[in-house]
Amino acid sequence: MSEPKKLFIKTYGCQMNVYDSERMAEAMGGAGYVETDSPGDADMILLNTCHIREKAAEKVYSELGRFKGLKADNPDLKIGVAGCVAQAEGEEIMRRSGLVDMVVGPQSYHRLPAMEARARGGEKVLDTDFPEDDKFAALKSRPKARRGPTAFLTVQEGCDKFCAFCVVPYTRGVEASRPAARVLEETRDLVARGVREITLLGQNVNAYHGEGPDGADWSLARLIWELDSVDGLERIRFTTSHPNDMGDDLIAAHGECAKLMPYLHLPVQSGSDRILKRMNRKHTAESYVRLIERIRAARPDILISGDFIVGFPEETEADFEATMDLIREVGYGQAFSFKYSPRPGTPAAERALVDPDVASERLSRLQALITRQQRDIQDAMVGRELGVLFEKPGRMPGQMVGKSDYLHAVHVADCPATAGELRRVQITESGPNSLAGELV
Ligand code: 5AD
Ligand code: SF4
Repeated sequence: MSEPKKLFIKTYGCQMNVYDSERMAEAMGGAGYVETDSPGDADMILLNTCHIREKAAEKVYSELGRFKGLKADNPDLKIGVAGCVAQAEGEEIMRRSGLVDMVVGPQSYHRLPAMEARARGGEKVLDTDFPEDDKFAALKSRPKARRGPTAFLTVQEGCDKFCAFCVVPYTRGVEASRPAARVLEETRDLVARGVREITLLGQNVNAYHGEGPDGADWSLARLIWELDSVDGLERIRFTTSHPNDMGDDLIAAHGECAKLMPYLHLPVQSGSDRILKRMNRKHTAESYVRLIERIRAARPDILISGDFIVGFPEETEADFEATMDLIREVGYGQAFSFKYSPRPGTPAAERALVDPDVASERLSRLQALITRQQRDIQDAMVGRELGVLFEKPGRMPGQMVGKSDYLHAVHVADCPATAGELRRVQITESGPNSLAGELV
């Protein structure tokens, strides 16, 4: 038997890239590769890149520069660039870096083993097409490898919203959903391998409209209800969503579906209607706040998470204050906030920038407010009894760590529960980054 070849994957960016990297590793497993943590041992290096914010391409070139020595030591080493930078700048990457053998866009991962074979033959291979077929169905899974208690599952890709700052519609293409039967099949397989919680992923996942087994278009809520009946699956989450795609059935599911967790990531980006319009968000601050009220009416304890961009072109102090007001009104348990960075090819890229010092100062004010809200919401868990899905041993002997229904990390000392068990926990303490408690 020949020695397996080694694959090193470095993943940047979102959870969808994490899922894609797992699928690429499995596909290359079928081509005789095993994963390694060390690029120095690798026969193939893949950079799974992200283009959403600043200096994405520069990061790729500097990372590639670090592999120069490895390629000199091992001329058989093949280097590939995958992900959204590959999609956006693939030809440029091939031209600029002699080190790169393969460029593979997010819609072409199922062709990676064939590309690798061509690269081994000495070719430079570029594939950034947008085929119609379901690449995930074509990506063969390794048979029955045991999995941890939580898993991501991509059900939707791409976006039709064209927010003025965002590259996603260009790098991931238009909105497309996987058929429900495929999602169910993959869920059952994951559950058989030990998974208890799945997070359905999509750039705009609540716009999901996959073909149901009955031939009808299924909404995300319909899909969630079907997953609810999968035995052994305990928890369902989804991310990330656009306010305008929050359908009535999905709002109702938050109140009625016991496996759907009380956590919703719903980006708003800004609290100023003027800026929201300039961002082409197609909703107002008011419509967002009313939507949150309707969701809370269905599920009063839901934890709301968001994304914010500060320093978008033309943002004034008054616009920024409107964002701060919206944050005060909603109350966020979690948030991701970013200073605007122009992305080449997007409509906002040509507009005049806000002074970077002003933007940085606004970002720190916004983050301070969110941190306080987050902490208050986390502290309010003390004294409550919550469901915790245990994931792994903690740093202290006998300790176990898991996630609450609201996605807070929870530590339990001297814990008899094992990874994969969902138990009730009485919360006793709230620390800087996690909760502590005792099994009920
Ligand atoms: N500049 C700053 N932040 C951005 N995001 C997307 N594009 C940009 C950009 N050009 C943020 C948005 C989005 C999150 C995934 O990244 O807040 O919701
Ligand atoms: Fe980008 Fe999200 Fe807007 Fe789509 S909805 S364009 S993914 S920010």
